[in-house]
Amino acid sequence: MCLAHHLFVWKEWGWEKKDEVYPKGVESYVYVLRGTYMRGLVAGYDLERLSIATLASHSSLQIFHGAKMEGFRTVAIVVKDRLWFYEQFKHLIDYFIVLNSWGELCRKDVVEKLRSLNAILVPHGSYVEYVGLDCAENIEVPIFGLRKLFRVEADQKAKMELLQRAGIPTPKIYRIDDDIDRLVIVKLPGAKGGKGYFLAKSKDEVVERLKKYIKEGLIKSFDDVIIQEYVIGVTAYYHYFYSPILNRVEILGADIRYETNVDGLRRLPPKISINLDLEPEPSFVVVGNIPLVLRESLLPRILEYGIKFVEETKRSLPPGIIGPFCLESVINDNMEIKVFEFSGRIVAGTNIYINGSPYSYLYWNEPMSTSRRIAREIKLAIDRNELEKVLT
Ligand SMILES: Nc1ncnc2c1ncn2[C@@H]1O[C@H](COP(=O)(O)OP(=O)(O)O)[C@@H](O)[C@H]1O
Ligand SMILES: [Mg+2]
Repeated sequence: MCLAHHLFVWKEWGWEKKDEVYPKGVESYVYVLRGTYMRGLVAGYDLERLSIATLASHSSLQIFHGAKMEGFRTVAIVVKDRLWFYEQFKHLIDYFIVLNSWGELCRKDVVEKLRSLNAILVPHGSYVEYVGLDCAENIEVPIFGLRKLFRVEADQKAKMELLQRAGIPTPKIYRIDDDIDRLVIVKLPGAKGGKGYFLAKSKDEVVERLKKYIKEGLIKSFDDVIIQEYVIGVTAYYHYFYSPILNRVEILGADIRYETNVDGLRRLPPKISINLDLEPEPSFVVVGNIPLVLRESLLPRILEYGIKFVEETKRSLPPGIIGPFCLESVINDNMEIKVFEFSGRIVAGTNIYINGSPYSYLYWNEPMSTSRRIAREIKLAIDRNELEKVLT
């Protein structure tokens, strides 16, 4: 049954509910669309047969599992050579859309297929990287999350500025002309997994290395990189969920990224690693995630930073973040938390907690993964006739 689109009238500013045309009992799945065109993407959807779709990678198995737990149908968008693997989990997947390459996601027939399946797309950490920014932010399928944030996330400088505007402490940030007076980490644009990142102790070292990178075509100019104080401490990554429906920020978990080779280097006695003269150099390629439970006395500050993040996105990118996000930090020995990056989507560290985390249990008293929480939010939104609050 697909009644929804009969029940809207188009006004200059968007879709509006027209009460008199509702048959009795229809109200529960009628969705009031106001404002932007993107919100209008869900018009015509059968809200009783919604499905949750994602790219088969990153945290997709968790996303399918969480959607199933809440009674949704699921759609795996998968590239050919991974199909065999995801077919092992077909009990979690109702429909496969098979692509030759991720770039095909925005092809007209693929988008139409998704729409015919009443699909809500859940973007995860690999989404923008796989399909490209243009497709990621313009795809004409409703997205659970804030699509405006993708562009900010793709730009490391804009990303750090957002954190600073939010009033969240970050590592000291240097410009190339600044005097570098401590150990710094230099980050290349779009270098997911930290490839090409390097540590340096002086401006000369930074300049020398960047000139080499320019020659090799890795970057175009000094402006392409960001230079951050390298904070000595322990890394901690916090998983949050902002619920526009319940209007609250939940801490759903925390993890430590297990990164090669920086985590491997510490297995060497200092005497040996010093003599290696940073060969091999530390690199930060994520291999997996380790669960983390924090000192309870740190939690108020962690929640405070999560709330500040949400408030800033509401100010500068209205309607603001929707659903999962992550702040990535180092905690030093003064218990200061320095946030060096964020992710505006579900992070792979949440895969640790498919059966819920010690924190999600406190809010929900049932096994609540981040992806089940996404599905629960969609359900709550439908029940309250507020779906427009969680989709962009
Ligand atoms: N300022 C910093 N101080 C200490 N370690 C850092 C800092 N910034 C990044 N790192 C380390 O480098 C890794 C990768 O950096 P990050 O900015 O998260 O890049 P990306 O995730 O885009 O590859 C982090 O997970 C962390 O281990
Ligand atoms: Mg990171």
